Amino acid sequence: MRHLISPLDFSVEELNKLLNLANDIEKNPEKYSEACKGKKLATLFYEPSTRTRLSFESAMLNLGGNVLGFSEATSSSAAKGESVADTIRIVSCYADIAAMRHPKEGAALVAAKNSLIPVINAGDGGHQHPTQTLTDLLTIRSLKGRLDHITIGLCGDLKFGRTVHSLINALLRYENVKFVLISPTELKVPKYIIENIKAAGAEYEEVNRLEDVIGMLDLLYMTRVQRERFFNEEDYIRLKDSFILDKKKMKMAKEDMLVLHPLPRVNEISVEVDKDPRAVYFKQAQYGVYVRMALILTLLEVEVC
Ligand code: CP
Repeated sequence: MRHLISPLDFSVEELNKLLNLANDIEKNPEKYSEACKGKKLATLFYEPSTRTRLSFESAMLNLGGNVLGFSEATSSSAAKGESVADTIRIVSCYADIAAMRHPKEGAALVAAKNSLIPVINAGDGGHQHPTQTLTDLLTIRSLKGRLDHITIGLCGDLKFGRTVHSLINALLRYENVKFVLISPTELKVPKYIIENIKAAGAEYEEVNRLEDVIGMLDLLYMTRVQRERFFNEEDYIRLKDSFILDKKKMKMAKEDMLVLHPLPRVNEISVEVDKDPRAVYFKQAQYGVYVRMALILTLLEVEVC
């Protein structure tokens, strides 16, 4: 039985297979419409979510399966003090596969160790968000045509941004990926991620002005400053509008630079940018459904001919 806890749980070869399957699902959705008939997905969300939870549910419904779960800790027995380990043991009796989001780093790993069914990490604190990474990789590969030989700017909250940490770790396995890390000093990428970049021999630079570097990027990955991860409101208010991508900055970018964002956005991308054909964050959310369908099929070992 396999779980997905970290974006590195799949080899590059397995990942390519998964992305190919997602592309086939995009082209031939009817072929997969009954692939999970009789199967159930449990969504165990201890933290708020729109995209991840609903795209998982949409994915399972598209595959002909069913969904059950909870969308906040207070509506589960966690509110009475039940542990993650006990919860997943119980959910193993009710469902065939589970997707879990939890505010504590490592919670999904604890669940996987105590589970009788495949567990998918749908975000654990500021740590990892592997299915967002699968979404990002599918978006980049589908719209840019490659995952190697790219210069990617990651902008915003790089300290608490789990999507950023997961994406960097995943892209380090591809050739000639250069990282431009754009953040205020207080929200720089954690040291362990920088160590990973150095160990992989990848090029990187850390800067604090988007306009100085936007012209060199093939991809710009914007992120929100996450209010819920701050210990004090003053720091959040001081840093929340550090970067705002607007039409003026987009004029400095390459004609084929793509703008991604895991969403939700707050102020960091002006709505005037949404009409720019280089803004692909809503398409990215759609790719999230295809890749989660592919992931469910892969972990449940369902073959569709
Ligand atoms: N990208 C993402 O994780 O969005 P949600 O928090 O809405 O799931």
